[in-house]
Parts: sequence; structure tokens; C-alpha cells
Amino acid sequence: MIIYLNGSFLEHTDATISPSDRGFLFGDGVYEVTRVIRGNFFMEEMHMGRLREGLDGLKINVHNSILKSIPDISRELLKKNDLLGGEASVYLQITRGAAWPRTHVFPEPEAEPTIFLSATAFKPHTTLHETGVDAIKIPDVRWTRCNLKTVNLLPNTLAKQQAKEAGVDSAVMVRDGVITESPNANIFCVKKGELYTFPATNYILNGITRRVVLEIAHTLSIPVHLIPVREDDLYDLDELFFSGTTTDIQPVNQVDGRAIGTGHPGPIVRQIQKAFTERLHS
Ligand SMILES: Cc1ncc(COP(=O)(O)O)c(C=O)c1O
Repeated sequence: MIIYLNGSFLEHTDATISPSDRGFLFGDGVYEVTRVIRGNFFMEEMHMGRLREGLDGLKINVHNSILKSIPDISRELLKKNDLLGGEASVYLQITRGAAWPRTHVFPEPEAEPTIFLSATAFKPHTTLHETGVDAIKIPDVRWTRCNLKTVNLLPNTLAKQQAKEAGVDSAVMVRDGVITESPNANIFCVKKGELYTFPATNYILNGITRRVVLEIAHTLSIPVHLIPVREDDLYDLDELFFSGTTTDIQPVNQVDGRAIGTGHPGPIVRQIQKAFTERLHS
């Protein structure tokens, strides 16, 4: 696998990152994951926009010319890995760079940001889209700047591991009595044919797929409420589903062993899945 690191395309086993890198020492960085279908990046500008917001949020300065070159670098990477033909995903991470001695405050003068990209073949979770998945409910113990897509993902990885150990696919996170999102996807709730999802505040990541689902709902005249759903109302819902770049649109059948609605994917998620697949491949 060829990766891109700080200006060079390299065999990934030849790539090295300094132990002084603030991404390694502090989780001081942001990332994006973008879907690519036969060389076409899905919602690329939105991903780049969110990347810029994340960099601004962490006050990491990356020269505009470098940011502008990322789409070309991504395409070159796909080409070098022979991934222009099928489905792929591109991972991009930018950290504040390497600086020593280790100290919490930002380095002065500023370090050169570390820029890393990789591209891999991607296989959608088609079976799970069809069957739906089960989840557990867990407390959302993350910080209050979840809108930034930082590489600080420990609460998310621990939650996914907890779900795995419970024999299910994912988790529904709850903060202050309301459903926020899953460790790696946004959550949509359906009640009486209407959609409910947590508003785009600092308590969730405003997913790119979430934004596409909102556009689709508008097109399909499905009413949308950008309000949180209470944990207590979870089992009164008709449907629940996840949305995310690598998750796509995934129905949730059960939470903590109790059925959501009929316990099977419902008509609204099926409509959204169909429209989403069309958008993805258009
Ligand atoms: C916590 C969290 N929420 C939501 C999402 C979905 O975002 P997107 O649709 O941009 O992939 C992700 C994706 O990684 C995520 O990690």
C-alpha cells in the first residue's frame, strides 16, 4: 500500500512519524474519511469544509495552498494504489506536527503540521444494510466539542469494543437522558412517519451522511425534527437507523435486546436507503 506523508508518496511500511508528533503525544489532530466510487469522491467539498472547521477549532494552521492540494493528492494516491476502478475510502489525518520538549501549550514557533493520507478498497456492509443491526445503550462520556472530528477517539473505541463484547454491532449513546449518536455514526429516529435527529450542536459530529439524509428527507417530503429523542422514548419509536460514511444507512433492530418498532427494518429507512444509494452512485 502506498500512502502519502508530508509531501511524499511512500510504501506504508517505509513511512515513519516522529515520537514527538503531537498527534501521537496528545491526540492533537483531526481526520476525515471520504468514500470514493470509481474515482468520484462523495461529498468531497463538504468533507473539506468540515476538515477546515476542525483545524480552525483546534487552531492548527495549515497553509491554504496545502489544503487546496489535498483533492489532487487523494486522486494521485488512488491511482498509485490502483483504486480508481471500484469502491474505496480515503483516510486523511492532520496533526499539529512534531515538537520537543513535550509541553501542553502549542509549540513556538509553530511546527510543520503532519499530513497523512491512505486509500483502501472499500466493501459496503450490504448484508447489514439488508438485515439491520443490534446495539447496546451506553453513556456518552465524550467531551463537549464532539462537533470537531478529532483523533481523540477513546470513548468511541471503548464503546465499540463494549458493543462487540456484548455480541452486537454498535451502540446508542445517551447524554443527559437523550440519544446523541453512535460511536461512529449519527442516529435517526422515526415516529409516525417523521424523522427526529439530534441537532448539529457541539454534542454530536455533524455527519456528512446525516446532511445527505436530511436533504433526501426534504426531497421525499418526510418531515424532520432537529430535536433530541429522550432515552425513555426509545422503545416507543417505529424505527431507528445509523448514518455514516462507512456505515451508509443502517437499520437498528434492537437496543439492549429490546425491539425498536417491529424489530425489523421499516418503510422509512428503506426509502432513505434507496434514495441514498442512488445519490452515492449518481
Ligand atoms: C461520532 C461520529 N458521528 C457521526 C459520524 C458520521 O459522520 P459522516 O457521515 O461524516 O461519516 C461519524 C463518522 O465517523 C462519527 O465518528
